[in-house]
Amino acid sequence: MFAHALNAYLQVQVPGVAERRITDIFKPMGTPGYAEREAALFTIGVTAVIFVVVAGLIVYTVWRFRRRPSDDSAQEPPQVYGSNQIEAAWTIIPILIVFVLIGVSARVIAGVENASPPPKALKVRLIGHQWWWEVQYPDYGIVTANEIHVPATPDGQRATYLELTSVDVIHSFWIPELAGKTDLIPNRVNYAWIDPRVPGVYVGNCAEYCGTQHAQMLLRVIADTPENFKTWTEQQQRPAENDPQVSDARNVFGSLACVNCHDIRGTPSVGKFGPDLTHLMSRRTLAAGVLVNDTKNLRAWVDDPQKAKPGCLMPSMKLNDQQLEQVVSYLQSLK
Ligand code: CUA
Repeated sequence: MFAHALNAYLQVQVPGVAERRITDIFKPMGTPGYAEREAALFTIGVTAVIFVVVAGLIVYTVWRFRRRPSDDSAQEPPQVYGSNQIEAAWTIIPILIVFVLIGVSARVIAGVENASPPPKALKVRLIGHQWWWEVQYPDYGIVTANEIHVPATPDGQRATYLELTSVDVIHSFWIPELAGKTDLIPNRVNYAWIDPRVPGVYVGNCAEYCGTQHAQMLLRVIADTPENFKTWTEQQQRPAENDPQVSDARNVFGSLACVNCHDIRGTPSVGKFGPDLTHLMSRRTLAAGVLVNDTKNLRAWVDDPQKAKPGCLMPSMKLNDQQLEQVVSYLQSLK
């Protein structure tokens, strides 16, 4: 129901920004975020008027009835007891205001939650882990982590519908510019949807306290042009690169316990506990958005994950320098 207003609003915004990193709920780039902003602005407007009226009356009263030199301090001002009109007014008007606010919130919540997926909608399963996000594309057979690639959808027809669940504790999905928060709850599936109208990177964060590294459980939605999204899905569907130049390094990796937790499709490494690494190098970040994915950070992360993210479930494997170099060079072959 907000599609028309959103289109008009987006025309005034700066379209075509390649990379957006501001997480501003007042600059929505998708329908749910836009609907929620409208409700927020309305509520802020109503409460601002109430504030001005109440604060204004207080200031007026303090000033108008201040003590004057001529006042007789022994004598109280005239006391007024009871007024049916005033009592009725301050009971009925707030009740009406509360009902209007309930109505507006309910309308927006229902509008967002009851929206049915358009036929071309993309389906994504998002699974919360302490402290990272597993991202599955059931229709494509793709598994990745922490970065959700979706097609940007200027007309809203290629929206992405998310199934949200968790393997451990409650997490919460939140991409401020695209959609408000929805919890990821173990043994339950919740739903959310996003329709980024403009290509770019939309940054979000886990929004439900889930343990020591809750604040470092970042999430990115990368809205690609349709062509780039197609290229990305084709690349992600392939098994891992089998680069002969790193066959020694691959053997070293295969001999380590890393394989118990990480899946690298097409290799004997089939663990499911940690993020899928099949195309690790296609991701911009490591450790759920905490580190830029470059050689220095990758080496530091593999060497001792507890430095960047104390308490995280990936242990330091206590590799010697040579093993570390080989693991890093193997991981960097996973394009
Ligand atoms: Cu996951 Cu907070």
